[in-house]
Amino acid sequence: MMVVSAIVAVGKNLEIGKDNQLLWHLPLDMKYFKEITTGHHVIMGRKSYESIPKKYRPLPNRVNVVVSRQKDLHIEGALVAASINKAIEMAEAAGENEVFIIGGGQIYNLALKTDLVDRLYITRVDASFDADIFFPTIDFNDWNEVSNRKTKMDERNAHDLTFTIYDKN
Ligand SMILES: NC(=O)c1ccc[n+]([C@@H]2O[C@H](COP(=O)([O-])OP(=O)(O)OC[C@H]3O[C@@H](n4cnc5c(N)ncnc54)[C@H](OP(=O)(O)O)[C@@H]3O)[C@@H](O)[C@H]2O)c1
Repeated sequence: MMVVSAIVAVGKNLEIGKDNQLLWHLPLDMKYFKEITTGHHVIMGRKSYESIPKKYRPLPNRVNVVVSRQKDLHIEGALVAASINKAIEMAEAAGENEVFIIGGGQIYNLALKTDLVDRLYITRVDASFDADIFFPTIDFNDWNEVSNRKTKMDERNAHDLTFTIYDKN
């Protein structure tokens, strides 16, 4: 069975983005994201795909699946899916063992609301930010913590971080 995971970095108030950009530059979290997702299918909303700087997209060494309602959308080097469910089916058909939903706000909301997610990788950034996109509120009674690791701010990472993985009960 393929595991459906979501991976996200959130501020103290579940902030995830503003003006179609991330709210921080955190090399430690980028490294973690790369380690966890490399070799897998990654599913993202069309806005998140466009928010990735051109030189970094499609995300290398991953099958990029972009979710959009646009029927004529073609993206070089990426697959386009008409729904999250279709994107998940594409990963499963390719023999994927763990597919990652990587944002943004609309796609996280929909995936969690419709109970598609089995595993959650949350990076908690220990600060508050001015944001216009938020991660949905999660009832952690429904989730079981499987690992937790903290890092301290340093010269390259302006905030303390906590990396936690949860499995759905
Ligand atoms: N902190 C983090 O971990 C993290 C991770 C990822 C993204 N982000 C941030 O999140 C923000 C972007 O999030 P967002 O909510 O604005 O956009 P988004 O979820 O990335 O993408 C929205 C787009 O997805 C498509 N879509 C949405 N629902 C759909 C459905 N039911 N069926 C088919 N297609 C559907 C639509 O594309 P069309 O308009 O083409 O139809 C829609 O415009 C940015 O600020 C980004 O930096 C943060």
